Amino acid sequence: MTARLLEGKVFAAKIKEEAKREAEEFAEAYGRMPGLAVIIVGEDPASQVYVRNKEKACEELGFISKQIQLPETATKEELLARIDALNRDEEISGILCQLPLPEAIAPYESEILERIDPLKDVDGFHPVNVGLLVMGKKALSPCTPAGCMKMLELSGIPVDGKRVAVIGRSNIVGKPMFHLLLAGHATVTLCHSHTENLKEICREADILVAAVGKPHFVTADMVKPGATVIDVGINRIAPKKLVGDVDFESVKEVAGAITPVPGGVGLLTIATLMMNTVEAARLQQEKQGETRI
Ligand code: GUN
Repeated sequence: MTARLLEGKVFAAKIKEEAKREAEEFAEAYGRMPGLAVIIVGEDPASQVYVRNKEKACEELGFISKQIQLPETATKEELLARIDALNRDEEISGILCQLPLPEAIAPYESEILERIDPLKDVDGFHPVNVGLLVMGKKALSPCTPAGCMKMLELSGIPVDGKRVAVIGRSNIVGKPMFHLLLAGHATVTLCHSHTENLKEICREADILVAAVGKPHFVTADMVKPGATVIDVGINRIAPKKLVGDVDFESVKEVAGAITPVPGGVGLLTIATLMMNTVEAARLQQEKQGETRI
């Protein structure tokens, strides 16, 4: 059997189209498009590429876009002052502080991310949004797992009542993925490096999500025939070779549907960021009360 290929570009295009439509509806009601501010500190080349792609997505969808480039030597106080200004800026609906931060201010990452107004926290990293997600309430949720949920929905792959195994317990992917799936009424097992009988747990899963950070970690013998396999891993194994956490060549013969790497869920992250920016704009407007033009 060869699995159905879940290509990121197809879903990213659909998500962006939806975000554009919703942003235009927002603009019609409130007289302005949603706005996204991205702060980048230092010159990390991978981060520069991500930030440029976010800027391009804003242009493509007609969002207001602000890039704030701070030098490697920027202090915590300088960064916090920029965040405060963006929190007050009415043109800006969403604020994203690109990670990783330079070494000198990395120890203050939590304090920095917590300074972002939870209603503008389009990364969904603020403890207020994490708490809302855990409680199953409306929240801005991290873009990659939220994108995976959207992809499942758009593919017609149900999660309600299904058994799902998530491998990896990071705050950015594994844990929010667990809560989003739970909110979708799946029965979810969150596996990690200490999990015993990992293979058996994975083999029971109708949907398997790999977010481990180890190349080719998921092998065909860990997959239930016909299962959906979502690969969130991005591992560089040679200067120009990226692979996921899933041994794609063998697993595609067992799975019912599978995401490739590259070209899989990585492409959904920015599209979902655009959705989150519209959602943030709406949440701020709701808080302010109905002041439609
Ligand atoms: N760096 C790599 N991915 C991300 C992300 O999703 N959000 C932020 N803020 N930084 C990142």
